[in-house]
Amino acid sequence: MATVRLDQKARALVRAVPDSYERALARYFGEGPTNVPLARNQHAAYCQALEAAGVEVHILDTDHAHPDCMFVEDQAVVVDGIMLLPTPGAPSRVNEQPPIAEFLMKALDGIQTCTMGGEARMDGGDIIRLGNLFFVGRSSRTNDLGIASLRSLLDFFDYELRIIDIPPHALHLTSITSTPSDQHILVPEGYLPKDAFGVLPEGSEIIWIPADEAYGCNTIGLSNGTVLIAEGYPSVKQALEQRGMVTVELDMSEIRAADGSLTCCSLFY
Ligand code: GLY
Repeated sequence: MATVRLDQKARALVRAVPDSYERALARYFGEGPTNVPLARNQHAAYCQALEAAGVEVHILDTDHAHPDCMFVEDQAVVVDGIMLLPTPGAPSRVNEQPPIAEFLMKALDGIQTCTMGGEARMDGGDIIRLGNLFFVGRSSRTNDLGIASLRSLLDFFDYELRIIDIPPHALHLTSITSTPSDQHILVPEGYLPKDAFGVLPEGSEIIWIPADEAYGCNTIGLSNGTVLIAEGYPSVKQALEQRGMVTVELDMSEIRAADGSLTCCSLFY
């Protein structure tokens, strides 16, 4: 999700909500899901919104043995025809990866694929991309060895990577930020230092959002100019619309309950 530019967001892999979803990890925004049918309805609306914006959506079979398996963003990083399969930071989520990897290897026939070894850990949810500038969160899920693996991949392209330290009260970089366009980063006040992103390319802007709308800072910008946003975050909606973006609101309550955000639920490839 976060690793492709807007113009590359043509195909998304998603994974359906498992029966075991109520046991999904939840520690930050969420207190744990309680309503699997509602989660399924919200996930279906999410897939429809992607399709309505022109994205080809592939729904991978769910895996009832893995309560977090719908959060596919964490399991692979696809950058301009190279794929990194990170070792996820949560041990309970490591075995979600093989079917996702298998699907992507088939879909992207012949794609060059790198894996991580040793103690390297990374969740794809710790990466955002602003054009050809990348940011990675150093978090409870992503360590320095994981970041070094990502850097090796980005070095193929001469893409710059900047590290953002994620505060202990947030899960991932994408939990609190996103790039609704290739020129904008949404960030909640009080979570990151004002200079955390460094000097941005000319024409780019950080949009600061009140801290009580931190969850709303996760959005999906699509190539047709539409931005998917979570319902109930008026400052986010207004900030994007003031800048000419067209927003589509989605009820994310049961996905937020498992610390999941919009980007977590898809993997663009
Ligand atoms: N529940 C999503 C995660 O913790 O990875």
